[in-house]
Amino acid sequence: MTTTPSGQPSLWDTGDVAGGERDAVVDAFCRGEDASLDHVLLPFDVRGTAAHVRGLGRAGVLTAQEVQTLDAALDELLREWDAGRFTVGAEHEDGHTAIEDALTQRLGELGRKVHTARSRNDQVLTALRLFALEHLRQVDDAATELAEAFAAKAGEARAQGLTMPGYTHGQPAMPLEVAVWCESFRDALADDRRTLAAAIALTDQSPLGSASGFGAPIPLEREATARELGFARVQANPVYCQQSRLKLEAAALNACAQLAWTLGQFACDALLFTSPAYGFLSLPQAMTTGSSLMPNKRNPDVLELLRALHPSVEAAAAEVRMLGVRLGSGYHRDFQMSKRPFLYGLERTRTGVEVARRVVERLQFNPEAMQAALTPELYMTATAHELVIQQGIPFRDAYRQVKAQRHQRHEGDEAP
Ligand code: ARG
Repeated sequence: MTTTPSGQPSLWDTGDVAGGERDAVVDAFCRGEDASLDHVLLPFDVRGTAAHVRGLGRAGVLTAQEVQTLDAALDELLREWDAGRFTVGAEHEDGHTAIEDALTQRLGELGRKVHTARSRNDQVLTALRLFALEHLRQVDDAATELAEAFAAKAGEARAQGLTMPGYTHGQPAMPLEVAVWCESFRDALADDRRTLAAAIALTDQSPLGSASGFGAPIPLEREATARELGFARVQANPVYCQQSRLKLEAAALNACAQLAWTLGQFACDALLFTSPAYGFLSLPQAMTTGSSLMPNKRNPDVLELLRALHPSVEAAAAEVRMLGVRLGSGYHRDFQMSKRPFLYGLERTRTGVEVARRVVERLQFNPEAMQAALTPELYMTATAHELVIQQGIPFRDAYRQVKAQRHQRHEGDEAP
């Protein structure tokens, strides 16, 4: 028999399994990366567990004294986790088992009562929702600060009257006010925050009390636990609670991917404009890295990794969405595979937005390089329009006239 540190039989050892020893390789495969991923989720799981314990108190399953004792033990567990002394071991199937086992180790029989009217299915769902809400809100706050940083940069550029070439097809097109370029990212972020708000609203519903996906066998006041955990509402239908795992995670990751898209566009522009060929912008030295071989190099790794954020969060979102393909109602262990891309996608986006703000705040303008790149060709479109207004001629004529004048000036040159 496999036992846990509290001396209890392992969760999967229900006492009625014939056939001797378990297959350790198969068990490890099924546990997957739960030990490390559930470690990250642990504080959220503890919060969910504390709310469930109080719910059991209200339902009359636990006495007020028992609720208090469990509450204190959960607090203690959290402190141990914080100090790095609480880990999910291989003898636990996952973090949920580890919490239950730690409570049993400390409180004996009382610890074993915690899992009443609860399944790991609603337990993990609750922890994931709490994790997602915290992260999505932090991403949203960071996006607000980033938008402010872009607005402040725009102010700086406007005060200096800065203009650089704008590009289409990667070719110089027309003059572009640097402030307008900065403000394009501020505006993109405002839209990204709308998508984030939708993802937050979807995530903001409590699955706790849905148990395995069919409701708890004893009446629980789901409204009360939802309120206690700070959820806006209860996700009432227990079948839908399980159906929405992966789906709501994908929605959260999609919102992150859209935001990462904006960061990627900024990173691509900044990579181009900081390259010596353009030189309109500079990164502070402290944000560049040296080469191990070439003493002449300073590399903009941070911008390249910001550019990589978008494809990498898109991939995480796609992985979660793919896992949901061809799954019917009910819990499926396939769900477990979504935790890695989910935790990764949210955490990476959160730091990515924060990093982007630091970069934007310290980005330097190089007015001379911008000025040098503003060649007369960039003003041809404006000149054609002046002719339209002054001479009242059709735009097509003005266009030809301006083009012909340029040909005369650069005899033999092919106009781009
Ligand atoms: N590690 C599992 C997950 O992330 C926890 C839920 C397990 N539930 C079950 N019925 N085996 O999905």
